[in-house]
Parts: sequence; structure tokens; C-alpha cells
Amino acid sequence: MTNKEIIESYNKSKESLSPILDELQDMNGFVSKNDIAQIAEYLEIPEKEIIILLKYKKNIKLEKQGENIVIVCKGPNCLKKGSIDIIKAIENEFGVKEGHTSKDGKITLDTKNCFKKCGFAPNVEINGKLYSNCTKENIVKILKDVIY
Ligand code: FES
Repeated sequence: MTNKEIIESYNKSKESLSPILDELQDMNGFVSKNDIAQIAEYLEIPEKEIIILLKYKKNIKLEKQGENIVIVCKGPNCLKKGSIDIIKAIENEFGVKEGHTSKDGKITLDTKNCFKKCGFAPNVEINGKLYSNCTKENIVKILKDVIY
């Protein structure tokens, strides 16, 4: 089934928006700009409305995810303990921008507001495993080991 066929298998009503997004996410691992345009056209709603909903639907990704998913905590404790430095180090070392996937598809760099492990800040999750009391040096080293 093509993405267009999936979209058009739903009722032409606003209630279909969320389930369409979920199904495309499950099938492709992300929802493209083209998908959003096609959904807007089919449901006869402005693309802007979909973009607003996407801010709340954290499960929906707007680009293909990398082989390795890195999530750096940007909650208050982790920020205080240097999570921005960690993000910058990952960006510089692996050619990836926060919220995006590197061109080689190796790494997606995301952030989160809190892992509820604030006492062990800063926290970084790599491929589902949480690392605590991180430094930019040890996270870069761990990532190099995981990726290469
Ligand atoms: S602020 Fe980072 S785990 Fe809570």
C-alpha cells in the first residue's frame, strides 16, 4: 500500500488525522512533508493544523530515524550540569543537529525534558539505555564505540 492509499483508506473527517499519522509513522518510521501535504489535501484542512497537532504527538517523527537514537535530557537539572555542552559535542563530532538525523543515517539526536533521574544529571539515553552523570567526553566515546 502506498502512503496515499493509506491516507485515503480513512474517512474524510478530522477524526482521521491522528490515526493516519500513527499508521504512517508505524509503517515508515516517520511522516514526510509530502505526507502532510497529502493528508491536508485529503482531509481538506490547512497543513498548519497538522503541524500544530504534531507538536503534541511526540511519537511522530518528521524525518527518517538514524541507526542510533541519542536522547539528551534538557530538564533543569541536566541543563545545570552541562547537557548543552553534551549536545554541542555530539553535534560537532557526528555532524548532526539537535532534532535531526546525520546525513550518513548513523545517528539521530533528540532531546527530552526529564528522565526522572535528576539526581544523576546529566542523563543521556543511547538506543534505549540510560547513561547517568555523563560528560561530553564520555558520551562521545560511548557513541564512537556504539556507532563504529
Ligand atoms: S532533569 Fe534530566 S533527568 Fe530530570
